[in-house]
Amino acid sequence: MSRTAILVGCARLPEGDGDEAGAQLALADVGVGTRWAVWDDPGEDFTDADLVILRATWDYSARRDAFLDWCASVAALRNAADVVRWNTDKAYLLDLAGAGIPIVPTQLLGPGDAPDWPDGDVVVKPSVGAGSRGAARFGTAQRAEATAHLSSLREAGHSVLLQPYQHDVDREGETALVFFGGGYSHAFTKGAMLTGAQYDESGLFVTEKLGLAEPEAAYRALAEDVLDATAARFGIGRSELLYARVDVVRTDGGTPAILELELAEPSLGFRQAGPGSAARFASAVRRELG
Ligand SMILES: Nc1ncnc2c1ncn2[C@@H]1O[C@H](COP(=O)(O)OP(=O)(O)O)[C@@H](O)[C@H]1O
Ligand SMILES: [Mg+2]
Repeated sequence: MSRTAILVGCARLPEGDGDEAGAQLALADVGVGTRWAVWDDPGEDFTDADLVILRATWDYSARRDAFLDWCASVAALRNAADVVRWNTDKAYLLDLAGAGIPIVPTQLLGPGDAPDWPDGDVVVKPSVGAGSRGAARFGTAQRAEATAHLSSLREAGHSVLLQPYQHDVDREGETALVFFGGGYSHAFTKGAMLTGAQYDESGLFVTEKLGLAEPEAAYRALAEDVLDATAARFGIGRSELLYARVDVVRTDGGTPAILELELAEPSLGFRQAGPGSAARFASAVRRELG
């Protein structure tokens, strides 16, 4: 039986950013055909697809409701629509904190909520956003600018996250730990993003500085705990998460904490991690296809 997986991009990146090329080869090796499609292309029909894998739908943040409606209409979507709904609003961080996971200290400011400014540098960012868009860092002498940014995000209809800036991001970067089918695959580092960095030509994400990582045990254990907490929240087995990326930073206190959990459309670092990672992804996809 021939099986096909559809990889999903967006109009400005209809075939992603190139990171999936190795994964497509690895899928072909195990008998899975792939093709790319754009999520909101009216000429596409996803209803009868064997498997539909979100990969580069990075334009959803301005149209999240329409995107989530589309997700709910695709039965074979991975990750599943309810997981994507929860994970595309960074309010999920507070759910993880409630489950005992250490997160970067986070205030979620809805309309009318007053900020309680942390000491030192802060990050102000939209609760729905990706690719570092709308995220900005402000020093203690820039409260007026930070307040103006907060207001402008709210005027655009966003809830806002306020966090203390984690200085280790400037030294060590953040570490992204990648899981396929609930099992650990590999990790990569991402350099600091709020440094006046350049946007990709698509305008959808800030160009990233990536490298392969061998995370220490505390990072590995924390990421495993996040997978368990997520599976428990949805009442599913970890293997039902086709892919997951757990972004860990070292807090100013020295302990690791979660900056993000990415279950919707994370870059998975195939280029950094090499063919072994693509083969593990291909095996997880095969298992989904049954
Ligand atoms: N509290 C923070 N401390 C240090 N850096 C941060 C913090 N929040 C965000 N950043 C930087 O901004 C980038 C984008 O923020 P992030 O929360 O990862 O949102 P997204 O990747 O969804 O746009 C991160 O990769 C990191 O470099
Ligand atoms: Mg991020």
